[in-house]
Amino acid sequence: MKKLRLRYLGDPVLRKKARRLNKVTPGVRDTIAAMWDLMEKANGVGLAAPQAGLSQRIIVVDTREPGERYALVNPEITWKSEETSPLSEGCLSIPGVEGEVIRPSQIRIRGIDPEGREVEIEANQLLAKVFQHEVDHVNGILFIDHLSEKDMKRVEPDLERFEAPALSK
Ligand code: NI
Repeated sequence: MKKLRLRYLGDPVLRKKARRLNKVTPGVRDTIAAMWDLMEKANGVGLAAPQAGLSQRIIVVDTREPGERYALVNPEITWKSEETSPLSEGCLSIPGVEGEVIRPSQIRIRGIDPEGREVEIEANQLLAKVFQHEVDHVNGILFIDHLSEKDMKRVEPDLERFEAPALSK
């Protein structure tokens, strides 16, 4: 299995729009296995490939609810509910920082599973939020981009220590 390491705020890979993959090769499956490993060691509920230093459109999600464990290649949100709801979010790439993000409560998402099959998933509650958070990652977007001005002011001092070059290595 590949060895991957978590990337933190300040690492340019987190701000790049990741590239689509043409197909699910054994190499891609190996990346997915390494991403599961990294996510589980970090005790996260989701991880996107850029967080592991790979600018590729791959996400893994596990809310710890039965049946809510997915790896998707080229994920695309195909529908969002008009209804939105707030959730306090965090990110493995910005440890120690949390803030409220308002997103659609329900979504549909399409992608390719590790076996190479096209799948479409309907998600609500936490699963819907995690999918949106991870799809943001492959587009170079972080949850802090969605914070209110007030919340942004609150977390700014915590963000500064990540932007320090010594920490983004
Ligand atoms: Ni994140």
